[in-house]
Amino acid sequence: MKIKRFQDSATLAQAVARELATRLSSTGSIGFATGRTMDPIYEALLELAPRVSAQVWMLDEYLGLSAEDQRSYRYYLQTRVFKPLQVPPAQIHLPQLEVLAPEAAALAYEVELQRFGGLRLQLLGLGLNGHLGLNEPGSTLSERTRIVKIAEKTRVSNQSFFGSLSEVPTHALTLGLATLNDAQELWLIVSGAAKAEILQEVLEGPVTSRVPASLLRDHPGLIVFVDEAAASRLR
Ligand code: GLP
Repeated sequence: MKIKRFQDSATLAQAVARELATRLSSTGSIGFATGRTMDPIYEALLELAPRVSAQVWMLDEYLGLSAEDQRSYRYYLQTRVFKPLQVPPAQIHLPQLEVLAPEAAALAYEVELQRFGGLRLQLLGLGLNGHLGLNEPGSTLSERTRIVKIAEKTRVSNQSFFGSLSEVPTHALTLGLATLNDAQELWLIVSGAAKAEILQEVLEGPVTSRVPASLLRDHPGLIVFVDEAAASRLR
């Protein structure tokens, strides 16, 4: 594991965007994450306007929202990243939740990713409960892309994107920890004081399913990009 520390989230975002721009201009599959942590990174990336030769994928998606729903992760990635970067549609891979039943869409997405040789790089945010994608506490390293129940803590944390808690979907499709473990590189991006405690648990606490991200901390291609606020509790 490599840790890259930055003064603040803006400096961190610039650095991640620069490295990401280089990766995007070569071939291979790159998985995109969503969440507030990623906003400044994608904004910085758009300014660099790299030509995208990579295949682009997504980490997770709510069930029950259409791809046109502004709260869906497909909508976010299409409108805020893939379209502005002019990624050719043939290089964009999204789960087929409109055409297939959820479980079938999850399996098909995993199979398609395998057909492309798996992930060269996956971007990851960190949930307040240690989740990666929507691999919530209890997830294991043997699980692949599948439908999961979203933890209550995560639903509450994402409530502000919806009108009320009852509108936050209860289930999601997520790449599994086994799928992530097969990636050549994992970039875990963590910023802000609110993540300091869970980041300390992920990196320095026990390796346990209770903190899913801890299961991947010995991945040989893991790079943790962190700002000072999030790193404040690390030894
Ligand atoms: C969300 C997303 C994850 C994201 C994480 C952190 O629920 N499903 O993919 O990485 O939680 O979110 P944020 O960056 O908003 O803290």
